[in-house]
Amino acid sequence: MAPDAGIEGRTDGWRPQGAAGHQHATGRQLDELYIEMPASDAPSRLPPAHYTEMIESALRRAVAFDAACPAQLAEAIRYCLLAPGKRLRPQLVLLAAEACGGHAEAALPAAVAVEMIHAYSLVHDDLPAMDDDDLRRGRPTCHKQFDEATAILVGDGLQALAFEILASQLQPAERAARCCAELARAAGPSALVGGQADDLAAEFRHIGLERLQSIHRRKTGALFRCSLRMGAIIANAAQDRLQALTTFGEHLGHAFQVVDDLLDVAGEEQRVGKRLNKDRRRGKVTYPLLLGLEESRRRAAELVDSASAALEPLGAAAAPLRELAEYIGRRSR
Ligand code: IPE
Ligand code: IPE
Ligand code: MG
Ligand code: MG
Ligand code: MG
Repeated sequence: MAPDAGIEGRTDGWRPQGAAGHQHATGRQLDELYIEMPASDAPSRLPPAHYTEMIESALRRAVAFDAACPAQLAEAIRYCLLAPGKRLRPQLVLLAAEACGGHAEAALPAAVAVEMIHAYSLVHDDLPAMDDDDLRRGRPTCHKQFDEATAILVGDGLQALAFEILASQLQPAERAARCCAELARAAGPSALVGGQADDLAAEFRHIGLERLQSIHRRKTGALFRCSLRMGAIIANAAQDRLQALTTFGEHLGHAFQVVDDLLDVAGEEQRVGKRLNKDRRRGKVTYPLLLGLEESRRRAAELVDSASAALEPLGAAAAPLRELAEYIGRRSR
């Protein structure tokens, strides 16, 4: 099959099924539907920038290596980690800590650690053996800029560093241990890595909405949920607040991946900083594929609403989290 043939190009007769009650949108229908997407970014679509400089300088400090780290590996790690990402997960850690009465500074090691796990997951996600992408954060992907072995090692290095930072820089030790366990679980085989494995196993196969949601929950949602939980744990939050932030993170992570699926077909490459229409070419089942554009957008908005509703017990202290959730629902990058 030609690499561009996509799901419709399958020769075995498989066609993705629409969810009950929703018309299934084929690739061509989607191409027509997406014309309605706004071409430019209105100011209201700019992301809220909480603690931007604090996060960026902590990330830079975390990758100032000694001479034992080979120069090319150090350069590649910096290239990937310090690239212009949105830093959503670190912001969520810091805002969750503050919403529970803690200090953002105290949560900074967890913010850095989760961004490291996220950055590693992107480097590996882009490898030829996975999604085979050549553009990330508006730049050549790690294996294109360097080589595949370096990209694998960048991921290995970032993953180890994340846990070193959590274990050695978070206080008190009991909260550091809890955060290590939270992050390890979220990054592990029953969450992020398992979701990635199932995402690849589902390529060019039919899966239904429930299976897709399970993949989204693990490959993407788990790290959002964990970011919020770590912030709450560091602030020593009471159980009801921890639970509120957990539920918020679950809905928000899900909304985030629905929008990611939408941007792949309806975004602008310059804004998104990734190649578009990759999901269809790689035979990925996505929300727009199963439900169509409009219904996917509606679901994303509904998930953002459910996320915000979960913040009720936190009152006004959660206003920045609500703002970030709204941005995630309408983002264009
Ligand atoms: C992209 O995440 C990868 C997914 C989990 C879908 P982001 O959109 O948060 O990527 P950056 O960090 O801003 O580059
Ligand atoms: C990636 O999902 C999720 C992780 C990296 C864990 P995608 O494959 O959809 O992410 P993009 O679109 O390449 O950023
Ligand atoms: Mg992927
Ligand atoms: Mg990918
Ligand atoms: Mg994607």
